[in-house]
Amino acid sequence: MTIKISDLTLEEKMHLLIGSGLWDMYDADGKIPHVSMNDGPHGLRKPTPDRTATIPCHAYPTLSLLASSWNPETVKTVSSAIADECIEHGTDILLAPGINIKRTPYCGRNFEYFSEDPLLAGTLGKAYVEGIQERNVLATVKHFCANNLESYRSQASNDIDDRTLHEIYLRPFEIALEAKPGCIMCSYNGVNGVFVSENQYILKTILREKLGFEGMLMSDWYAVTERARALKATLDLQMPEDAYGFEELKQAYEDGFITDAEIDASVARILALVEKCVENRKVSRQMLTNEERSQIAINAVTDSVVLMKNEGDVLPLKKGSSALVAACYMDYTPTLGGGGSANVTPMNKPAVLHDLMQKSGHFSKVIENRPSINIYEPVDVGIVTVGNRVEEERESWDRTTLRLRPVDEQMIRNVARSHKKTVVILYSGSAVDVSPWIDEVDAVVWAGFGGEGVQDGIVKVLTGEVSPSGKLAETWPISDADIIDQGELRDGLYVRYKEGVMVGYRYYEDGRIPVRFPFGHGLSYAKFDYSDLKIEKHSETDYTVSFTLTNNSNVDASEVAQLYVGEIAPHVARPVKELRAFEKVFLRAAESKTVSLTLDRRAFAYYSMNINDWYVENDIYRIMVGASSADIRLEDTVIIELPKYTQFTHRHRNIMT
Ligand code: GLC
Repeated sequence: MTIKISDLTLEEKMHLLIGSGLWDMYDADGKIPHVSMNDGPHGLRKPTPDRTATIPCHAYPTLSLLASSWNPETVKTVSSAIADECIEHGTDILLAPGINIKRTPYCGRNFEYFSEDPLLAGTLGKAYVEGIQERNVLATVKHFCANNLESYRSQASNDIDDRTLHEIYLRPFEIALEAKPGCIMCSYNGVNGVFVSENQYILKTILREKLGFEGMLMSDWYAVTERARALKATLDLQMPEDAYGFEELKQAYEDGFITDAEIDASVARILALVEKCVENRKVSRQMLTNEERSQIAINAVTDSVVLMKNEGDVLPLKKGSSALVAACYMDYTPTLGGGGSANVTPMNKPAVLHDLMQKSGHFSKVIENRPSINIYEPVDVGIVTVGNRVEEERESWDRTTLRLRPVDEQMIRNVARSHKKTVVILYSGSAVDVSPWIDEVDAVVWAGFGGEGVQDGIVKVLTGEVSPSGKLAETWPISDADIIDQGELRDGLYVRYKEGVMVGYRYYEDGRIPVRFPFGHGLSYAKFDYSDLKIEKHSETDYTVSFTLTNNSNVDASEVAQLYVGEIAPHVARPVKELRAFEKVFLRAAESKTVSLTLDRRAFAYYSMNINDWYVENDIYRIMVGASSADIRLEDTVIIELPKYTQFTHRHRNIMT
């Protein structure tokens, strides 16, 4: 151990519980090895020496687009590349990934999160952590927990029942913790009336004792409400530096409110983390060139973009065809990432789409068209590039509508009315209300906030070099009217999570609310067929579900096969179906493969507030395999009959009526 607790004075210990400046940990004038941290999930965001900007680093696709790959390997490859740049620039801890659940599509930071589904968010969050920490950089899983809106994030408290908390909002963290992240960052908001930074139930009882997190727990920036109370909740590090914090600790210590044991417990976790960083620095090596990093950014785009609509198979665009590209972006640069602490100064300015198309040699003619010109030369297809900006999707701000800006919608209409075929390339961080124009266009490709390689990736999809294989990791509703109630923000500033576990597709299916594009939706240039469903029983709650997936086309492509489970007659409100397993499968043209997925006890359980634990009810359960939550291809049932005394009684013995 480089340094022991006994080497530190009480004052030094208290200082160690609070950051130094914005991005560093306290080092007791060199007595403690120096440790630094930086954002962010989509690329390293490190301030320039004069702190007027951030240094140029590779801008990767946002987590919302990466999530649409449904591919842990893709996510891991990207986070490993970001870790590579952390090593190059001497950053020990990356403040990423954010894995909060997308409770509402309005949340301004949805571009920065993976999904509305806990299994998908947790699985990809875990892969992201693995990618970072296998390179000897530490990850920070954030924001623990239930940070699902940006407005009033520092004032609002969320009323969430314990079952909803465990099944929806804690579940991604429970899964990501399997990767043993070095750090967790607590959220700004409160839960059930107490700010998370000092919430002993959330941090101590759940995160430490129930989920077993032993690493360093830091606050979000300025999220600590009172430093001594946060210490008692086992919050180890207040970020960033804050003079009040030190004074609050000193006073609370003199008042006997906090003890040496509580101080030493946090100091021990921090020193263990410092030691880990010292060890990491001895072995971490930069391994990637800028060219390799750029290629990783492009490959991540091609594995993630979602083909939302493709009427008449207008995509891929035919070789030798002609196209017009109408751009709604000044200098043709789409938004690469959302606004706020995740924003990266890109190492490379993204290529210009119509230039790339011209250079591809795939087209006979490509005309670029500025918004101002309304006269369109006759071409085979009109392509419109539209989307949100950091003004629409950013930290500290929630959207009030899912609609695109009027200029974007008008551009789409203009092109659609003057072309036989129209393709929309949509750059947004999260769901968009496409209702005003979707019926006027033939194809829509969701390019997400795709980072600096987004245009290179899109061209590969437009020309058919790569078949799109992305699937939506969040539902796209039809209109604002269909969206979950934001909950009341009253003078007391709380939000009631009235919908309980019915979040995302769970909510729309529970309410039989039709959606524009369902969770798990994504088209391909190939045609996938599902057959031969088999369910092998290993115990009452352990099964292997296998089926044959066939690529009935002449195109090599990948498919994300999804497995959902739904209880037939539950005694609590349960979602119609819940994602319980998935696998992305690459199949050559005409190739078939047997896919096997496993279901364990947790696949059938709900969180019972009677026993404060997961409970499996004897019942019939639907086993559904499909290409999306709304495109089930194979289905069967299993009957679970656990021993009588594992079950609550669900019917009164003397039913008089
Ligand atoms: C921000 C964000 C958090 C980020 C931190 C440092 O407010 O909520 O995700 O890592 O502060 O920038």
